[in-house]
This record gives sequence, C-alpha cells and structure tokens, in this order.
Amino acid sequence: MTNKFIHFIANWKMFGDINSIKSLNKVIKFSNIYKKKKFSIIYCPPYTLLNLFSRKVKNTRILLGAQNCHHEQKNSAFTGSISAKMIKKLGAKYVIVGHSEVRDAGETDLLVNKKIKTLIDNNLKIILCIGETLSQKKKKQTFKVLKNQISRGLKGIKKKNNILIAYEPIWSIGTGIIPKIFDLDRKIKYLKNFLIKKIKIKNPKVLYGGSVNHKNITYLKKIDILDGFLIGGASHSPKKFIDIIKKTFI
Ligand code: 13P
Repeated sequence: MTNKFIHFIANWKMFGDINSIKSLNKVIKFSNIYKKKKFSIIYCPPYTLLNLFSRKVKNTRILLGAQNCHHEQKNSAFTGSISAKMIKKLGAKYVIVGHSEVRDAGETDLLVNKKIKTLIDNNLKIILCIGETLSQKKKKQTFKVLKNQISRGLKGIKKKNNILIAYEPIWSIGTGIIPKIFDLDRKIKYLKNFLIKKIKIKNPKVLYGGSVNHKNITYLKKIDILDGFLIGGASHSPKKFIDIIKKTFI
C-alpha cells in the first residue's frame, strides 16, 4: 500500500466538543511535517464542530466532511436537518452516506440515492458506506447485500468519479473484530471488479472501515488493493490516529 494514495477518514460519530480542537491541532501539526507521503486526511466531526474545524483546516492538507445530510436539495421545513448546500458553505468537501448507524435509523437505499444526487449537484464528494450484518454473513449473503447497496445507491448516477466506497462489515464496527486478511482481500477485489464492470467506474476507490486501530493497521495494510480506511473510535485520539497513518507507510 505504501506507494499509492491513501485516504484516512476520521468519523467521529456523536463525539467531540469545543475541546476537540486540541486533537485536530495535533493532527494538523503532524500532517505539516509528514509531507512526503501521498495521503489525505478527512475529518468528519459532528455538525456542531464543522464550522470551527473548517476555520482550523484552512490552508492545511486536512479536508473536512460531514457525517450525513438531508436528501432534499432546497433548504426547507425539515426540523433538525442540514442540507448539502449548508455543508458546502461551511467548507466541507465530503459527506458520508449510507453509514450502517444511519441506515439503522431508517435511511433506505432510495434515500441514499437521493442524497448522492443532491451531493453531486452541490459539488460535494461522497463516502458511500456499505456492509453486511453478521446474520447476512452467516447466511452467505454478503456479496448480494453489497451489490444491492451499490446498485441501488448509485442508480441513475452519471458522475461517479467523486465517490469513495467504504466497505464496513457491520459485525466489525466497534467490536474489535476485523475480517481475515484473505477474506477482506477477496471482497475488495470483488467489489472493485463489480464497480468497474457493472457500475462503470473506471478507477474505483474502495476503503475499509470497522475497528481499525494502531495495532491491526500493520495487518490491514497488507491488502494492497485498498485505498484507505474509515476510522471511528481510534480517530478520536490524535496519537492513535497519527500512529495509524505512520504505520501504514512504514
Ligand atoms: P470503529 O472504527 O469505531 O469500529 O467505527 C467504524 C466506523 O463505523 C467508521 O465509520
């Protein structure tokens, strides 16, 4: 993996407050001195921190993303929601869609699809999460589930060059369990092949997410075909997050 461009995405979920700026500062400092390597760091803090983080990351190599957005294009009467346009105006470049925790709360493939269309219209890049549950894995339905999530999520989408696919097996999120290297390698290859042949994405980028940490990264980075990592818990600690990045390139 060491010679290719790698994305490190920090998904903070419902964590972080005004003091989190200290954590961001440490990672900015690190990214300023660790210039040689080809990688991007994308911070996805909760909405409440987007403005603050956006001002901090200006003129650094760190990019900003939101964890979700509303599917409607126009600002309207949707209490508690944030539009793609608002996110764009804050300086964010990416938005996560289809995260299993959001799907759990009712986000369907149809909504994922609408969100993607809205994001493309607003010139935002997309991190599309896909993944199977433990029960689907046990029933050997993984490939079918992943194919459906991709095909339905990207239905009718023409501009597909700004989409990162994040494969996050649900049984791996927050559990400390990661897939076997052989199995993960096989899945990523399958996904890339499907994205090229059926979805017509020329050079698809596929990331892995689920319990990535500063210890198992040495193992995960062996999967050459991966284009990066979507990191939850371990991205809260600047030390652990930096360690993950450094160890990927050692
Ligand atoms: P963890 O790294 O905490 O398992 O979370 C993964 C995830 O859901 C990132 O989107």
